[in-house]
Amino acid sequence: MQSIKGKTAIITGASKGIGLAVAQKFAQEGANLMLIARSEATLKDLSVKLERENDVKVIYAKADLTNSKDIESAFEIFSKNFNTLDILVNNAGRGIFNYIHNGSPAEWREVIDLNLTGLIHLTNLSVKLMIPQKNGHIVNISSVAGRVGIPGWSVYCATKWGVVGFSESIRKELLKYNIRVSVIEPGVVTTEWGENMPHEWITQRSQMKALKPEDIAEAVYYVVTQPANVSVSELLIRPTEQER
Ligand SMILES: NC(=O)c1ccc[n+]([C@@H]2O[C@H](COP(=O)([O-])OP(=O)(O)OC[C@H]3O[C@@H](n4cnc5c(N)ncnc54)[C@H](OP(=O)(O)O)[C@@H]3O)[C@@H](O)[C@H]2O)c1
Repeated sequence: MQSIKGKTAIITGASKGIGLAVAQKFAQEGANLMLIARSEATLKDLSVKLERENDVKVIYAKADLTNSKDIESAFEIFSKNFNTLDILVNNAGRGIFNYIHNGSPAEWREVIDLNLTGLIHLTNLSVKLMIPQKNGHIVNISSVAGRVGIPGWSVYCATKWGVVGFSESIRKELLKYNIRVSVIEPGVVTTEWGENMPHEWITQRSQMKALKPEDIAEAVYYVVTQPANVSVSELLIRPTEQER
């Protein structure tokens, strides 16, 4: 196992859910962090709390990751504060339930711009730092929905399948620079994720012993602490009772 103590990580979607759990785990293990999300007040409070409770530096940037200018500004803040970037956790993501005969271009764009274009853009900026370092790790949070098709979640599935294809391609591009790429594919996790959900989905989720955000944080920690010669390319994690 490699320690992440003293390493530097960017975590997107760190204001709640899985991203928050990853931020807490990484800070406890001694990593210095940059947190990104839209909820500035939450990020500010969280940064103060993580610095107070752990011997680490935590900065944050308010950014809408569907907006390329916000992504560039956030990365500038990162570069002014840190010289190296060891780990990028591309976690921010949304899903909007709708059948394909409904929906609208604006709705599809919201999901695609965040889950795919934003993730690609932040990866592009990050690898420009990682390549000269000859070191780095990109962890992309996809989903079970990146492995199967699910009625009502077609656009979400398209983005998560896209994340898998993107990750596997850049893994091949970047291995010569000693940069690892991992995809984590959670099943149902108890968070606020999922908009427009049909009632039966909400009931199903609440009745199931779903995963906790901390379970996924442990998985992210597992992949980034493997020895240098071990690259965990893909990790699919479901609640024991989840069939899909
Ligand atoms: N929960 C599940 O069952 C599940 C299963 C499989 C995969 N996943 C994936 O896991 C990841 C995290 O989901 P979660 O369950 O933790 O969801 P969540 O609780 O809804 O958290 C989503 C995070 O993304 C941020 N975010 C949303 N829109 C954003 C935007 N436009 N710009 C910047 N940040 C944005 C949110 O912060 P702000 O609102 O402050 O911006 C929040 O921190 C997502 O990629 C999701 O697709 C979740």
